[in-house]
Amino acid sequence: MQDRAWQDWATKRIAADYRRSADTHLIPVSMPALPDIALYVKDEASHPTGSLKHRLARSLFLYALCNGWLAKGRPVIEASSGSTAVSEAYFAQMLDLPFITVVPHNTAAEKIAAITALGGQCHYVENPREIYGAARALAAETGGHYIDQFTYAERATDWRGNNNIAETIFAQMECEPHPLPRWIVCGAGTGGTSATIGRFARHHHHATGICVADPAASVFHRHWHDRNVMTHDGAPSLIEGIGRPCVEPSFIPTVVDRMIVVEDDQSIAAARVLSRRIGRLCGGSTGTNMWACAMLVSEMAARGEAGSIVTILCDSGERYRSTYYNDDWIAERALDLAPLEARMERFFETGHLD
Ligand SMILES: Cc1ncc(COP(=O)(O)O)c(C=O)c1O
Repeated sequence: MQDRAWQDWATKRIAADYRRSADTHLIPVSMPALPDIALYVKDEASHPTGSLKHRLARSLFLYALCNGWLAKGRPVIEASSGSTAVSEAYFAQMLDLPFITVVPHNTAAEKIAAITALGGQCHYVENPREIYGAARALAAETGGHYIDQFTYAERATDWRGNNNIAETIFAQMECEPHPLPRWIVCGAGTGGTSATIGRFARHHHHATGICVADPAASVFHRHWHDRNVMTHDGAPSLIEGIGRPCVEPSFIPTVVDRMIVVEDDQSIAAARVLSRRIGRLCGGSTGTNMWACAMLVSEMAARGEAGSIVTILCDSGERYRSTYYNDDWIAERALDLAPLEARMERFFETGHLD
């Protein structure tokens, strides 16, 4: 017999948290060289747990609760590259549930600190591909529930509306000079964000294109071009949270109109330049988005098109002070960022990514 009283209490706790929360800002990014093209970033770092994963964690907990999968005192287990686990630790703590996440051993120390500060425990694996099996095993061992963002991200969020990320972007654009974005650019980790935006655009008859900015080491762009490609070997991307070695069940290639491949050094350089331009420290996946936006803006400018592009500031660079913003870490990886940062600066000055 299900404990409906506990389920009611838990869903009300999450509803109350939602009521206390505000929407995230849509920030214009100044491009004086291109008066007819407008670029905006949706600041998802301003959620209480610091990333776009706050939305996903809320949806996953509600989905699991309403399916009757969570119970008082029953541990919640996740496989994560870090950001989702931070947000899930927040909701688990809110519901007095033990939370254990399996993370790759090289996850940023700042994220681990955030997970543990919220009462979560971390279980480390050497290879990022081991996170799923380890999470499943932990759930079996502890009698816990594996909440499984990679499977459920695309369906836990209501893609038709309910103030999902797509609905808020289109609403916030209403009074802008080009209210209907030509492109919305996002990354894919689970694929949930691109699935929500792509489905929402179709459902509401918006002509906006969905572009996924994908690290070079990721399987997603390979799979988008050839559906038989399901895995990609080689060194994993340095960009946390996006790009995967295996195609995840929540990645829906048919709602993506374009994939842009971005090298890790380009992502980090773009994150650094964008951070200086908007006065907010951005994470690496935001840099991946920014590089792709610069390519799309350059193409539009070359064709003489007017319009707008919206992208996502996925999480704050504060989480990566020891990595992308640490010159020793950059030097250890022999990354030469100066010429790429100069290219991105030139883009902002000229409106053309050379
Ligand atoms: C920092 C960061 N950016 C972007 C994404 C991509 O989001 P999604 O999982 O919705 O594909 C993730 C996902 O893991 C992330 O952690």
